Amino acid sequence: MKNAIVTGANIGLGLETVKGLVNEGYQVTLACRSEEKASAAIEEVRREFPECHLQFLALDLNDFSSVKNFCHEYEKNFKKLDLLVNNAGIMMPPFSLTANGFESQFGVNYLSHFLLTGLLLNLLKESESARVINLASLAHKWGDIYFDDINFKKSYNKKKAYGQSKLACLIFSYELDRRLKSEGLNIRSIAAHPGVSSTNLGQFMPKFMSIGMSLISQSSKNGAAPSLFAALNEDLKGGEYIGPSGIGELSGAPKIVDSNARSKDLAVAKKLWDVSKDLTGIDFL
Ligand SMILES: NC(=O)c1ccc[n+]([C@@H]2O[C@H](COP(=O)([O-])OP(=O)(O)OC[C@H]3O[C@@H](n4cnc5c(N)ncnc54)[C@H](OP(=O)(O)O)[C@@H]3O)[C@@H](O)[C@H]2O)c1
Repeated sequence: MKNAIVTGANIGLGLETVKGLVNEGYQVTLACRSEEKASAAIEEVRREFPECHLQFLALDLNDFSSVKNFCHEYEKNFKKLDLLVNNAGIMMPPFSLTANGFESQFGVNYLSHFLLTGLLLNLLKESESARVINLASLAHKWGDIYFDDINFKKSYNKKKAYGQSKLACLIFSYELDRRLKSEGLNIRSIAAHPGVSSTNLGQFMPKFMSIGMSLISQSSKNGAAPSLFAALNEDLKGGEYIGPSGIGELSGAPKIVDSNARSKDLAVAKKLWDVSKDLTGIDFL
C-alpha cells in the first residue's frame, strides 16, 4: 500500500486531497495541529470510504520542534513514504513570529515545509517512486524574496509577505526537483495551485476582498484537483507546475501552467536554498 502525508489535512483543499488519495488506495497520515479537527475530518472521510486507512499525527508548522517530533514519530511507524503533500498554509494574518522567530507566513507556509521535506527525505528514498507536492499560488506574483528583511521586521506588508511565502514554495518546488534529479533519485517534486477556492484561507482578509473572492471561487473539491493531478498523473516527470485551465487560472480542470520569471531565477533559487538551510539548520541535497 502507498503511504501519503498531507499537511493541513483537516479542512479545505487538504481534506479534499485526502479523499482523492484514499479513493486511489493510499494510506494517508493527516498532519494537523488539532487532533479534534483531524478526528472530525477522519470521520467525514470514513463515512464516504469506510475501508480507508487514515491516521492523525500532530504537526504544528509554527514550531520546528513539532516538525522534528512529527518526523521522529512517523519514522517509528512507517518504513517508506510515497507522497508528501506540503499543503498547509495561512494567508495575510496580523504580524506575528513563529516559535523560532520567523514571520508567520514565511515560517508556516514555507520554512517548516522545507524542514519537513528534508527530514523525510530518507523515507522518500525508500519508495519505488516518490513525489513531493508543494502548494503555491497565483499570489507568487505579488511578492519577491526580500532577502534583506525576510521576516518583515522593518515594516510588515501582509500581502507581500503571503506573496513571498508562496513564491518561496514555488522556487523550492523547482529547485528541489533539480537537486533530486542531479542526485539521480527517483523522487519527483511538483508544484500545484488551486486558482481561487472557497476555503477557510480568507479568514484574515478584509471583508470586501473575501466577498469579491467568493464570487469567483471554485469549490474546495475542484480546488484540490491540481494537487491530485500533481500527485497522481503518471505522465509528469517532476519540475512541473499544475493549476486550473480556465481564464486567469482561477478555476477549471487541472493542466500544466507557467509561473513568473522570478520563480525560475536559478540564482535566487540557490540563495533561498542556502538561506533556508541556515534558518532551519538542516542540510540536505
Ligand atoms: N483557497 C485558495 O484559493 C488558495 C489559493 C492559492 C493557494 N492556496 C494554498 O492552498 C493551501 C491550502 O489552503 P486552503 O485554501 O485549504 O486553506 P484552509 O481551508 O484555511 O486550510 C489550511 C490548512 O492549513 C492548516 N494550518 C494552518 N496553520 C498551520 C500550522 N501552524 N500547523 C499545521 N497546520 C496549519 C490549517 O489548520 P487549522 O484548521 O488548524 O487552522 C488547515 O488545515 C495553502 O497552502 C494555501 O496557501 C489556497
